[in-house]
Amino acid sequence: MSRMLMDNGLALSPQMGWNSWNHFQCNINETLIKQTADAMVSSDLAAKGYKYINIDDCWGELNRDSKGNLVAKASTFPSGIKALADYVHSKGLKLGIYSDAGTLTCSQTMPGSLGHEEQDAKTFASWGIDYLKYDNCGNTGTSPRERYPKMSKALLNSGRSIFFSLCEWGVEDPATWAGAIGNSWRTTGDIEDKWSSMTTIADLNDQWASYARPGSWNDPDMLEVGNGGMTKEEYRSHFSIWALAKAPLLIGCDLRSMDKGTFELLSNKEVISVNQDKLGIQGKKVKKEGDLEVWAGPLSKKRVAVILWNRGSVPANITARWADLGLDSSVTVNARDLWEHLTHPSIKTQLSALVEPHACKMYTLTRSKA
Ligand code: GLA
Repeated sequence: MSRMLMDNGLALSPQMGWNSWNHFQCNINETLIKQTADAMVSSDLAAKGYKYINIDDCWGELNRDSKGNLVAKASTFPSGIKALADYVHSKGLKLGIYSDAGTLTCSQTMPGSLGHEEQDAKTFASWGIDYLKYDNCGNTGTSPRERYPKMSKALLNSGRSIFFSLCEWGVEDPATWAGAIGNSWRTTGDIEDKWSSMTTIADLNDQWASYARPGSWNDPDMLEVGNGGMTKEEYRSHFSIWALAKAPLLIGCDLRSMDKGTFELLSNKEVISVNQDKLGIQGKKVKKEGDLEVWAGPLSKKRVAVILWNRGSVPANITARWADLGLDSSVTVNARDLWEHLTHPSIKTQLSALVEPHACKMYTLTRSKA
């Protein structure tokens, strides 16, 4: 199947960064954004690949100015967005912003861009914006397929390379059309910081795996890791599955006060490198026996990424047979455990492990001999 991609050269691997919504909702201001950029660099997460600092809803005044331009909210962003972009860029990071393909954004505290696409895209470009998340509230009941391409075109004509993240919540199967106009598309409604929401969303997103490719990705929503509603093992599963599914890795916690455990999850270079692998094929659920699941997908250099995931409430052995992974039965592999940072050499025919409730094991399999 061939399909045109949005021609902006971005998103060769899934986007990595931070977004304000999951932790802060509308309680945002320019100091928070600057401190988050500082923390991204000082924590070393920037060096691991997280580069977008994305402002979500509630950054603007309810009314446009006399020329119809969007205006940063004076009480919370008094220095304006351009100054913020300069600051974020000075840290070697990129700045994202949020708008909406309707009359009002979801918070109803600021205008959407419907009917102002060209003007708003030019405004974002003039401010030095690198990324636009484009939501679907106040949409007058018309199809996203009518409204989203207008902003895509406007961004391409804006004179700046701007990542386009569609957020129409999966309502019109965006995987089937959004790759031509954007770099990622939400496949589901909003994630909540709890196990039932995270697992449901992982499954919904999984159906669209075959549509992901370099330049355009399925988006099962932003990470909740570090927000407190799940256990460490549940967050490890969340991060591992998002990485394997080539999902955007957009951190959603308060980076300024992140604890050691949160940092340990978000900074795992071996897991991140599965997400950023240049082959760009979304891993998916390949086997399910009750609550015991195997998720897997191919990586570059003929490697295979595998997750053994226990979604039940008692410890259990989970086995991935080579046939489940698309490997020939004669293949011998070295299995790198990406969380234990250990290599199990010369594994034949199947990979098995005891997995704790709501936990997972994650591996990269490398063929030991041709
Ligand atoms: C919608 C989106 C969320 C967030 C909020 C902001 O619900 O899906 O990700 O942007 O709006 O109001």
